[in-house]
Amino acid sequence: MILGIPKEITENEKRVALLPEALSKIKGLEIRVQAGAGEAAGFTNAAYQNKGAVLVPDAKSLYEQSDVVLKVMPPEASEASWMKEGAVLISFIYPHSHADLLNSLASRKVSVFAMDLIPRTSRAQFMDALSSQATVAGYKAAVLAINSLPKIFPMLITAAGTISPAKVFVIGAGVAGLQAIATAHRMGASVEAYDLRPVVKEQIESLGAKFVSLPLEAQDAQTSGGYAKAQSEEFYRKQQEFLAKTAQNADAVITTALVPGKRAPILLSEEAVKGMKPASVIVDLAAEQGGNCALTEPGKTVVKHGVTIHGLFNLPSLIPSQSSLMYSRNISAFLGLMLKDGKMGIDLNDDLLSGSLAAHNGEVLFPKKLAPVPVAAGGKTA
Ligand code: NAI
Repeated sequence: MILGIPKEITENEKRVALLPEALSKIKGLEIRVQAGAGEAAGFTNAAYQNKGAVLVPDAKSLYEQSDVVLKVMPPEASEASWMKEGAVLISFIYPHSHADLLNSLASRKVSVFAMDLIPRTSRAQFMDALSSQATVAGYKAAVLAINSLPKIFPMLITAAGTISPAKVFVIGAGVAGLQAIATAHRMGASVEAYDLRPVVKEQIESLGAKFVSLPLEAQDAQTSGGYAKAQSEEFYRKQQEFLAKTAQNADAVITTALVPGKRAPILLSEEAVKGMKPASVIVDLAAEQGGNCALTEPGKTVVKHGVTIHGLFNLPSLIPSQSSLMYSRNISAFLGLMLKDGKMGIDLNDDLLSGSLAAHNGEVLFPKKLAPVPVAAGGKTA
């Protein structure tokens, strides 16, 4: 059986699904890699060849040869049309916004495993690509804030006097938010953070940040899976008022708030932006799901009312080496669930396989399941 690793073709996508280091651990499959697949992430053709991979010059031939394809981004229509009938595809899929893709893959009887549908149980931790990519996105969000601010993050005591630390406010303390807090704190900023789910207070404080408590209680804040639940319009309106007060003291605000399957809630209104300090910065990690700031322009960096607002997509792709490294480890652990004694098999009694299966045997299985909306991993929701 042939395992294929194509070069990603989505605009600005620099990651690769599998790194050379993973090849020797995959037993029983012949591995073929499209020439140049790892180049943008710093992994040469020679590095793959040295680990036993065969190079294939073009994407079409690679797809046509492969029984199993590992990808980062959902395939484009052309890629889907090249897939072998009955092949296995493992990739981010974001099924909320890729119904046509799933139909096309199902019509070719491709078994589609969505990395973004893998149940986030403790057994799946090694395979949790949503978390690994959100970690990189959270780190990069803090770095973007550092680069855009006209001041430095840490407190400095110098001969020219004392410089006070930058103030960073992080809204949403899931995986990406916690990493943004940790990074900003490590760089010396004074960090405050808020989340709808009160359970994260302890995690925020353990990272050295101050938990911002609002005089507002969310109804039934979290699902059994740990995700935030959507709240009423009235709740969001009050939240915006309270958050504006904290934002006006911040030099940088990093927003990461998401609700699975929904547009990201707007938490920073235009009024809140107007009230912020001149030359302050907002990094809106929820931009791909519409944005947490009313003035975010998804995919762009803009300056509004003197505030720089970053709504860039796909931050993990800006650090492709390590985001690919983590993704490669996630996807090879997941592939391991299907490889027994060098043979591929899909055991639908395995909750991680059945839970992430989006199409199989010619049938689209999604939206029977509710997918978490991706965090800055490049997918666009409807
Ligand atoms: P996410 O990306 O869906 O959301 C980001 C954050 O936004 C969440 O913390 C959420 O509570 C917050 N949020 C949503 N609406 C908000 C609002 N109106 N105001 C303020 N904050 C708001 O979350 P992520 O990072 O995917 O994590 C979701 C949950 O999954 C967390 O509880 C996390 O601990 C859990 N998790 C569990 C794992 C495991 O057990 N293997 C692995 C990773 C995450």
